[in-house]
Amino acid sequence: MDISGKTRVCGVIGDPIGHTLSPTIHNAAFNHLGLDFVFLAFHVKAAELEKAMRGIRGLGIHGLNVTMPHKSAVIGCLDEVDFTVRFLGSANTILNRGGKLSGFSTDGVGALKALLENGVDLSGKKVLLLGAGGAAKAIAFVLVPEVGELAILNRSVEKAEELAETLGHMFNRKVMGGSLSPNTIKTNLRDSDVLLNATSVGMKPNLSQSLVAPEWLRSDLSVMDIVYNPVKTKLTKDAEAAGAKVVSGVEMLIYQGAESFEIWTGKSAPIKVMRKAALNKLSSKGESK
Ligand code: ATR
Repeated sequence: MDISGKTRVCGVIGDPIGHTLSPTIHNAAFNHLGLDFVFLAFHVKAAELEKAMRGIRGLGIHGLNVTMPHKSAVIGCLDEVDFTVRFLGSANTILNRGGKLSGFSTDGVGALKALLENGVDLSGKKVLLLGAGGAAKAIAFVLVPEVGELAILNRSVEKAEELAETLGHMFNRKVMGGSLSPNTIKTNLRDSDVLLNATSVGMKPNLSQSLVAPEWLRSDLSVMDIVYNPVKTKLTKDAEAAGAKVVSGVEMLIYQGAESFEIWTGKSAPIKVMRKAALNKLSSKGESK
C-alpha cells in the first residue's frame, strides 16, 4: 500500500469499533484493484457524532460506513438521503461529493444479493424472517417485492405487526407479522421455502442458542443467518445437517460491504477477495468455528 498526498480516505465510525472487519475487507479490495484508497476505523462516541461529521467534511474523508450506535442519528448530519434511508430511518454508508454528504443503506440489498448470488431462488417463494429490528427491517424492505410471500415473526410482536402492515401496503403484497415463539416458528416453517434469522440469537458468546429446533429443518429449505460471529451458528450447522442450502452471515457482510465499495469507488467489488479477507480475519480470531 503506497499512501500519497492523493490517497482517498474511507472509514467506519462506531462505538465500539475495535472488532470491525470493514478495514480488513475494504483494504483488501482496494489493494486488489490497485485503487489509491485507504480504509480506517474511527472510534466515535455518540456525544461526538456531530463533531466527527464536521471532521469528515473538513478533512475531505471520501466515504464512510456507519455502525452502532450512529445509524439513525447520522441522518441529521447529512445533506441528502435516498428513499431506503428515509424509510428505514437509518444509514450505513456515506459518500462525500465535494462536501455534500449523501446517505445510503446497503444492508437490505446486501442480504438480497447474498441470497441470490448463492443460488437461493426467491421468486414466488415464501420467506420466514425472524426478527424486526434494524437489520430485519432493512432486509424485509428489499425482500418484499422479490418474494411471493413474507412472514415476519418478532419477540416484541408489535414491531413485527407494524412492519408487516407498512410493507404490505407499500408494495401491495402479502406480508404477515406475528409473535415469535417455538409454535409460530414451527407452524410458519412448514410451508416456507426460505428461513432468515435476523435476530442476534446465536451470536457469540451464545453459541448453543438457536430459535429453530433441528427437527423443523428440511433439505428443501434455504437458510440464511445474519449472525457472522461465529461463521457457523447453531442454526446454520443444524440446517446443514438437515441437508438445507445454507448462506452464512459472512455473505451478507460481504455483499453489503461490496455495495458500499461500489458507491465510493464506482468500481465493481472483488467479492472473492473480500470474502477471503473476512474469513481469514475471522479464523485468526477463532470465530470461524
Ligand atoms: P439489529 O440492528 O442488529 O437488527 P436490533 O435492532 O437491536 O439490532 O434488533 C435485534 C433483533 O433481535 C430484534 O428483532 C430482537 O427482538 P425484539 O425486537 O423483541 O427485541 C431480536 N432478539 C434479540 N434477542 C432475542 C432473543 N433472545 N429472542 C428473540 N429475539 C431476540
